[in-house]
Amino acid sequence: MRLDKFIVESGLATRTEIAKAAKNGAITVNGEIVRRPSGHIDPVCDVITFCGKKVIYREFTYIMLNKPEGYVSARSDDLSPTVIELLPPELQRIGLFPCGRLDKNTLGLMLLTNNGPLSHKLLSPKNHVDKKYYFEVKFPISVDDVKSLESGVDIGGYMTAPCKVEMLDEKHGHITLTEGKYHQIKLMAEAVHNQITFLERVTFGPILLDRSLERGEWRYLTNEEEELLEARGVAASGSNNQK
Ligand code: URA
Repeated sequence: MRLDKFIVESGLATRTEIAKAAKNGAITVNGEIVRRPSGHIDPVCDVITFCGKKVIYREFTYIMLNKPEGYVSARSDDLSPTVIELLPPELQRIGLFPCGRLDKNTLGLMLLTNNGPLSHKLLSPKNHVDKKYYFEVKFPISVDDVKSLESGVDIGGYMTAPCKVEMLDEKHGHITLTEGKYHQIKLMAEAVHNQITFLERVTFGPILLDRSLERGEWRYLTNEEEELLEARGVAASGSNNQK
């Protein structure tokens, strides 16, 4: 594998930064300074350092982002900023994509990865991965509304799967879904003649929104969080993240 590709994929630097570092003698392979970043290395056996730091190869990268309002869950968009733009340049180039969509004005937990099979498993309705949202509505929700929402409502010709609704008071609550249709919660609220005024995802399977992240901030998933995903039987093998 090319040395520069190895460092780019580890999320440490861009190709331009790597070229500069190589010129300055800041890259070593097995203790030897290497000034030609296009050379080949063995990602398993060779020991690489970049600016004095050992580079650990990331086959896949997993990121938690606290999504702010106004960003679209896509890799690119002609009109609006994307969640990818909230990441530093070196992480914008390693093929990360949002694991499932949140609406532009929905906030909270967004997972980003470049592990396609894992993302597919997390989102497949067959895997029943719970996603919990905090919501606020315009009008009070009755006990009958809660019953309807939980047993399934018609959202434009589709009957939603059973879900869980826990009210905190008559206008605030949590809803936990195992599926993710477009605008699902907003349409479910409309089906019971109501309107969502605030929506925030707080969990995605076993992963909880890290409240120490401000809106727009991100961090890598910890080893423990990756293990939790694996325990759900949804993490693809081969992750080797540097923490
Ligand atoms: N349901 C919605 O209506 N919007 C979201 O962003 C997520 C679930």
